[in-house]
Amino acid sequence: MDGRDLVRSVRMVGSVQGLRTVRSAWRRRRADARALAPRGAERARVPGLLIGAEPGPGGGVVRFARSRLRVRVAVGGAVFWSWDGAEPLPSYALPGDGPEADPRARLEPDKNGGWQVVSERLTVAVSRHGALELRTPGGVVLRRELPPRWWEPVAGGPARWVQRSEVPADARFFGLGGRASGPRLREGTYRLWNTDPGGRFGPGDDPLYLTMPVQVVVSDAGTHLAFHDNSWAGRVTLREGEEGEGSGHDRPGACEVRMEGGPLRCWVVVGTPARVLRGWTELTGAPALPPSWALGPQHARWGFGSEQEVRRIAAGYRERGLPLSVLHLDIDHYDAHRVFTVDRERFPDLPRLAKELREDGVRLVSIVDPAVKASVGEAVFDSGMAVGADGAFVRDPQGVPVLGEVWPGECVYPDFTDPLVRAWWGGLYEERLGQGFAGVWHDMNEPVSFSPFGDPSLPRSSRHSLEGRGGDHREAHNVYALAMARAGYEALRRLRPDERPFLFSRSGWAGMQRYGGTWSGDVATGWPGLRASLALVLGLGLCGVPYSGPDVGGFDGSPSPELYLRWFQLGAYMPLFRTHAAIDAGRREPWEFGPEVLAHAGRALADRERLLPYFVTLARLALLTGAPYVRPVWWGAPGDRALRDCEDAFLLGDALLVAPVLEEGAVRRAVRLPRGRWYDTATGRAYEGPGQVVVEAPLSRIPVLARAGAVIPVRGAEGDLELEVWAPSPGRTGGGLVVRDMGDGWERAEVERYTSRVAAGRVVVERDGAEELVPYPVRVRGLPAQP
Ligand code: GLC
Repeated sequence: MDGRDLVRSVRMVGSVQGLRTVRSAWRRRRADARALAPRGAERARVPGLLIGAEPGPGGGVVRFARSRLRVRVAVGGAVFWSWDGAEPLPSYALPGDGPEADPRARLEPDKNGGWQVVSERLTVAVSRHGALELRTPGGVVLRRELPPRWWEPVAGGPARWVQRSEVPADARFFGLGGRASGPRLREGTYRLWNTDPGGRFGPGDDPLYLTMPVQVVVSDAGTHLAFHDNSWAGRVTLREGEEGEGSGHDRPGACEVRMEGGPLRCWVVVGTPARVLRGWTELTGAPALPPSWALGPQHARWGFGSEQEVRRIAAGYRERGLPLSVLHLDIDHYDAHRVFTVDRERFPDLPRLAKELREDGVRLVSIVDPAVKASVGEAVFDSGMAVGADGAFVRDPQGVPVLGEVWPGECVYPDFTDPLVRAWWGGLYEERLGQGFAGVWHDMNEPVSFSPFGDPSLPRSSRHSLEGRGGDHREAHNVYALAMARAGYEALRRLRPDERPFLFSRSGWAGMQRYGGTWSGDVATGWPGLRASLALVLGLGLCGVPYSGPDVGGFDGSPSPELYLRWFQLGAYMPLFRTHAAIDAGRREPWEFGPEVLAHAGRALADRERLLPYFVTLARLALLTGAPYVRPVWWGAPGDRALRDCEDAFLLGDALLVAPVLEEGAVRRAVRLPRGRWYDTATGRAYEGPGQVVVEAPLSRIPVLARAGAVIPVRGAEGDLELEVWAPSPGRTGGGLVVRDMGDGWERAEVERYTSRVAAGRVVVERDGAEELVPYPVRVRGLPAQP
């Protein structure tokens, strides 16, 4: 990984900078050696025996010989517990003041000499040694937390801690942010430290850009999400359990969270998957609603290099009748890679280019990197140095701005954990809007400093404001991009109050959905990278970040025509549907792979266009409920174990099951179906689930199945909204939700509910709670139900 970073910096930016990265890496190492004393002798501590308890709002505090445990049930059902007196705030994950305590939940003694808090959905039982059990109202254990252990440096400093937990033997783990090896997280150790893997990654690379201490655990007993609200570096070790096949000797699943510092506090949300995501986004904030145009097809490339090339690409789409909604300009449109500048030779009149593209229905989105060229006389650097008393940039313990190496050369880094800095940085987005950009793409914000060895980021000893509390990079690193996203989002709202911001960011943390989405980052071109793309989108969705997608075609190298096409077909069903590639990679335009691929890619684009109203609906539903657009197939049936282990297909909303082709040469594939009837949308053939079926997957399309009874809003031939209704299976009813496109402002939208049933051999669609007739044309598909 480190060597790759050096290769990247040498190869792509020139050897002078390559050598500077070596210097910068040594500087980082020296800084930390000087400022962060080795931990030295440590004292281990466990809570000890229970000595008393005091009820409080939503629960109370249980005192132990050497720590205290706070348990608090929040309104809405989320359960908070913490050791050593930690409170829910301050937290980067929770917006505002955090949720209120549920006054009905009380701490009371239990039969075993411990204490318990009984709430509507969960009983939290605390044992005399400080173990904590989360049980369903029926008494089934969802999660058992063993007493934690701390190691405190004798000479002072942050305490390390470990928390081990057990989950049911049949449980499966998901989440932890974006993990290329997912979606199901098998046995292994997953690091919590946002990291640029250095130019490309595949399923074996961990950690990646966007980690989160958020695990979603699915078992027969129920689904729960556990969030360790702590931004320090850490690692999570998972081991799936084993069932004793009725022998009574189950080995529970195990999870161990180790943190290098910071509070030991945790939120748990339980329920059905839908309820869990609703609870999670009630806690951490609703996902920002992207403007509708961000649900259309997008094309990017590092290295368009000139206005002519951008026009050529736009014309390429237009002339072939291929829809295109957005073009992205990467760092090559900057002047010498400096953020908030434009290379005037290659892009002499960006506002005009933006305007003309806009007339053709194409918007421009700009990359925004956080690192600022460190050089007096550079406008952004100079204005940053003038912010507040100490300037806007991250400093070392001596107060000197920390230098790193990024694309423009030697750089400084805005400290986004400082509200003043966020306000200053946000003001700079005015320049982007002035250039005609409609949205922003945050990159390199782990944050990255190229490094041939060690961590490609800032020294851990670097100082941050952390909202005025003060702290160092060990605590600020993982929330750096989240705070940058906040700066960008709030600025766009301020600068252009009538339009919803479009922002997506490579790195982030729990709660980032409040500001925008994300994308895969530099996923390696190859079949494993294609699989990783799906894993990332599914895992992030379960962590509350519903809007994301891969670099279609992969970031590096040149995909075979077949691989490109299969990626394109997958991308067409992802919230962010964007082709992108590195400066030295092969082409990614659909017409560059021969006429056959072009025809099939055209079909995928047309299908995406047809489904736009459905995507608009799914985006609204994500805002209202936290449910991701792209969901694991077990979403509605977490008790179906075969579905829990199915990683090669997904649900798009409630209505569609998408089964991408992830294997070279495959022209048919096995699809695991949830219960009920499913129609192959291409052939109309009906299949009955649960179970596995084999469906055709010719090069021209990937299998997409519709749930019997589904009512799906689609764009009709005239561009108007239509309802596509799939016949309910005999004796059953169906339905669907529709949210009309209310434009790109802040207008509220009504959720329209439709039901479908069969009457006298015909499919009938009705609008719930409304006298009036269905206001859209209805197209019935699927086998006619038997009268
Ligand atoms: C990073 C990004 C990639 C971008 C490149 C140049 O590698 O992940 O998307 O093209 O930087 O800005």
